[in-house]
Amino acid sequence: MQFTASTLLLAGATFLSTASAAGVFAINGTAQPGSHVTLTVLNGNVGDNPTCNGTAAIGDLPASGNITCNALYALSFIWDTQNDGISATYSTPSAAPFTYSVPPTSNDGTTYVFGFEDDFADAEASKQFTANPPKSAVEFRA
Ligand SMILES: *[C@@H]1O[C@H](CO)[C@@H](O)[C@H](O)[C@H]1NC(C)=O
Ligand SMILES: *[C@@H]1O[C@H](CO)[C@@H](O)[C@H](O)[C@H]1NC(C)=O
Ligand SMILES: *[C@@H]1O[C@H](CO)[C@@H](O)[C@H](O)[C@H]1NC(C)=O
Repeated sequence: MQFTASTLLLAGATFLSTASAAGVFAINGTAQPGSHVTLTVLNGNVGDNPTCNGTAAIGDLPASGNITCNALYALSFIWDTQNDGISATYSTPSAAPFTYSVPPTSNDGTTYVFGFEDDFADAEASKQFTANPPKSAVEFRA
């Protein structure tokens, strides 16, 4: 069989169709009642540094606090009940504060794990999340 240009183009198109996510919006964390909440926000291109990433000391539940972010970004949280998600209010230089319910994913009775992640084929789409909130994090606080 003779190799033709169209054979090579077909092989190339098949390879490109498996392209992975270019953008990501994720809020993930771990927490212990009476101790701390750690949250990380990925909001931009895959591989970018987090926009927010930090740990806040907390007392007994219900607890609230703020997490360190890059300049002009902000993240605060409310954790009412250990078996429920964390309510996380996030804002960016271009988006007003928006509150997400970050769902619980697992716990060992001491450490509680939370998180959602939405991947986007278009990196820009991951930065416009407030116009199209991730379906995995239904808003439950105004
Ligand atoms: C978040 O901060 C912690 C503590 O400083 C650090 O160990 C971790 O690598 C950071 N995470 C990311 C994704 O940069
Ligand atoms: C979080 O930040 C807000 C705004 O700066 C402040 O009013 C609030 O007291 C902070 N909360 C905690 C628990 O530090
Ligand atoms: C965030 O949590 C979700 C749900 O457990 C998980 O699928 C995703 O991989 C996590 N993302 C990161 C960056 O840890």
